[in-house]
Amino acid sequence: MEKLVINGGRKLFGKIDISGAKNAAVAILPAAIMASQGVAVIDNIPEIEDVQCIERIIESLNCKIIKGKNSVSIDSTAINSVCANTDDVRRMRASYYLIGALLGRFKQANVALPGGCSIGVRPIDQHIKGFEALGAHVTIEHGVVSAKAEKLVGANIFFDVVSVGATINVMLAAALAEGTTVLENVAKEPHVVDVANFLNTMGANIKGAGTDVIRIVGVKELKGCNYSVIPDQIEAGTYMIAAAACGGEVEVGNIIPKHMESISAKLMEMGAEVIENEDSIIVRANGRLKGVNVKTLPYPGFPTDVQQPMTTLLSVSHGRSIVNESIWESRFKFVDELKKMGANIKVEGRTAIIDGVSQLTGAVLKATDLRAGAAMVIAGLMAEGVTEVTCIDHVDRGYPHIEEKFKMLGADIRRVKTEDC
Ligand code: EPU
Repeated sequence: MEKLVINGGRKLFGKIDISGAKNAAVAILPAAIMASQGVAVIDNIPEIEDVQCIERIIESLNCKIIKGKNSVSIDSTAINSVCANTDDVRRMRASYYLIGALLGRFKQANVALPGGCSIGVRPIDQHIKGFEALGAHVTIEHGVVSAKAEKLVGANIFFDVVSVGATINVMLAAALAEGTTVLENVAKEPHVVDVANFLNTMGANIKGAGTDVIRIVGVKELKGCNYSVIPDQIEAGTYMIAAAACGGEVEVGNIIPKHMESISAKLMEMGAEVIENEDSIIVRANGRLKGVNVKTLPYPGFPTDVQQPMTTLLSVSHGRSIVNESIWESRFKFVDELKKMGANIKVEGRTAIIDGVSQLTGAVLKATDLRAGAAMVIAGLMAEGVTEVTCIDHVDRGYPHIEEKFKMLGADIRRVKTEDC
């Protein structure tokens, strides 16, 4: 076990580069197994535990994987199983993309129900609704989702809720269905568009990703290709917020600034300076910022995945801020940890009422989930004194080399072995 030890109170200066997007990579890797010919070579893969986990799962299906520096090549021509039921499958959320991928290619999938961060109820009814509309028979028994179809036939599907996972999963299966599928009320996140672009590069015919309606004309087969994953919007947002929280001047590089608009706008509303370049954003801040109200929403709204870092920043901003979490009902659990540092936050259901304090003080904190862990690192960086963040395996699932990137910005942060957690 490891923990992060942070000596807080230093301003951040310098430039860091953002890695490939976790939530794109963990969908593109399962999508790659849909290629019945050739090899998929995927670049800008982030070095995180969730990616390694999905790679192990894919290997267990008899795919050949060769890993390079931030890249992976996947040969799935000799795949010999439609069953994924290992601890790795149960540990992570994105393993559910194997249902859509296997169902699309083999018309059959047996995949254990997924795990992932404990941030609220995480049903997959919309995924199942989509698969059934395409003609699959879906059952859940003994913790395994089994989906089977004689053939998949394109259909019109209107999702009841905007879901990233359901949009991608049904898109995967529909890419190899007969005829045309129209998905309505879909998620528009950058990683949804990235997965559609990847499938198209493999030979799929998908239009409209990034809008409310995706139209998929099924093709007979998909082939390997070369592809590069988009930069991680959430990792970038986390570092932008860290810069605003600690003060200083940070250039967050290798990003698509358009993806960052909701976060840039909030930071500017708070009084930080945000300068957009072609592929980077500079955040400058000096002293306490102004409290604001935030409501998390599907893209292009403010992302739920940076709500916890943002709530942490607001805990030391002037005045009262209200944060409304509209996606995950349990994403305020980490607030109890911030309170140990002196934060004044009251949580009522999906709303946090934050009365900014002038400073947090270092404490021993336990990362309760991935983004909570990142929020606690930010809290430690801006607090007076020493903070320890334990259970950082959560953080390592989604942030590549977090302590090294913060060290490059001048932070006093180190990773040490521990018995805790
Ligand atoms: N929902 C349903 N039924 C479904 C699917 C979703 O009711 O069948 C509801 C959920 O309960 C939730 C909302 O729809 O209230 C949105 O859920 P969504 O399906 O979009 O979430 P997800 O696909 O499970 C992905 C990311 C999450 C991110 C959400 C929202 C991955 C692997 N995970 O989850 O990322 O919070 O979209 O943007 O892509 C993270 O990276 O820390 C993380 C949790």
